[in-house]
Formats: sequence, structure tokens, C-alpha cells
Amino acid sequence: MASRTSNELNQLADEGSLLVARANDATTQSEYIIGMCYVMEGEEPEGGRRWEFGGVCVSDEFRGYGIGSALGVLAISSHYLYEPPQKGERLIAHVHKDNSLPWHMLKVQLGFVQVGQETPPSEVVPPGLRRNSKGEVVGDLYEFRISTLGRFADWLETFDGRVEGRNGYLTTNLNLRFFQAYRATAIQALRQLAFSSEAG
Ligand SMILES: CC(C)(COP(=O)(O)OP(=O)(O)OC[C@H]1O[C@@H](n2cnc3c(N)ncnc32)[C@H](O)[C@@H]1OP(=O)(O)O)[C@@H](O)C(=O)NCCC(=O)NCCS
Repeated sequence: MASRTSNELNQLADEGSLLVARANDATTQSEYIIGMCYVMEGEEPEGGRRWEFGGVCVSDEFRGYGIGSALGVLAISSHYLYEPPQKGERLIAHVHKDNSLPWHMLKVQLGFVQVGQETPPSEVVPPGLRRNSKGEVVGDLYEFRISTLGRFADWLETFDGRVEGRNGYLTTNLNLRFFQAYRATAIQALRQLAFSSEAG
């Protein structure tokens, strides 16, 4: 829910932490961006590192085709392959409490669990968001369950660029760091991470 400057987005893109989905324009034979998301390093309010899944956004006309979910699966999988889970360190998502658009995607498709609410410092909140009577922008706080990585591995095993949602299916291009050369290794590693989290 926090606002990211274009500099921050550029930095995330340079680091490979910003994932975008592209579609082809048949007329101009060119590609254009239809969705994005990132996983970036953040800090718990009381101190200590955490990771944030955010910036999830899909162009209006491409919503409901599974692109948001696919971006999430790929960004989170990629994140954990590069930054294996550390004890006490969580991956969170933070959503304005009145924004119901990502609920289903976060909870059903991506394995997040709502763990409470959080009110970010006002300087990081984008202007125009609805505030409560105290002038605060309250967000629902979600936490990712590592065990979901096993389901992500199953999805990745058959993923060929085609995504599907309640409106039908389409093919999209996603820039994947880990996927090109190391698909089998990545899938195996994700299953191992899920297994380890369940084993305790
Ligand atoms: C939230 C957002 C990114 C979702 O993107 P999307 O590409 O439409 O998401 P998906 O198609 O993957 O999933 C959307 C829905 O289809 C469902 N779905 C996904 N795959 C499906 C399938 N194979 N069959 C049936 N339904 C499916 C999802 O569960 C979800 O259900 P909902 O309609 O009840 O929400 C998009 O609505 C958006 O950009 N919103 C504005 C920005 C925003 O609010 N971002 C969140 C800020 S934290």
C-alpha cells in the first residue's frame, strides 16, 4: 500500500526484484507491460527485517485472466530461491482495508493469511487514499505461508506462459530470472523449502 517512487521502482527492476507481464501488440509487433509486482526488503515496525510483496497491479482489460496470481507465484518463488526463509523473518502484503480487489488472489491463489492490521507512517502512504477519523490509512496485514511453495512448484512444473482466470485464458510474457536455465532445480528447491517448513 506504500507508495514507491519511480527511482525505487527502477532500482527494484535493476535488482531483478520487479516482475512484469507483457502482451504483444499485433499491429505494431511490439510488447507492452500489462501487469507488475515486486518483492522488496522492508522493516518490521518494531525493528528487524521483513519482505514485502507489493505493487501488484494488472491493467483493467487484462484482469481476471490469472495474471495477478501468476505474477505473485513467480515473484514469490523467485524471491525464496534467492533469499531462503530465515527464522522469524516474514513475507507480508499490506492492503488498504477497503480494497477488496486482491483478497481472493492473496488468500486463495497465493497462500497469504490475514494476521491483523497495520497503519503505515503517513509519509509513505500515497495521497488520495481514504483515511479514518484520525487521518490514518489503515491496512490489512497478510503473511505468506512458506508451505504454499509446494503448490507453487506444482504450478511452475506445467507453466508454459499460458495463464487462466475467471474470464478465460491468455498467453503472457514474464521476465523470469531463475526460470530459463534452472527450472527443474528451482522446482525441486521450492518443494524442499515447503517440506522443511512443514517439518517444523
Ligand atoms: C488485484 C489484481 C492485481 C488482481 O489481478 P488479476 O490479474 O485480475 O488477478 P487473477 O486473475 O489472478 O485473480 C483474480 C480473480 O480470479 C480468480 N482466479 C484466478 N485463477 C482462476 C481460475 N483458474 N479459475 C477461476 N478463478 C480464478 C482469483 O481467485 C480472483 O478471484 P476474485 O475475482 O474473486 O478476485 C487486480 O485486480 C488489480 O490490479 N487491482 C488494482 C490494484 C490493486 O488493488 N492491487 C492490490 C494492492 S495490494
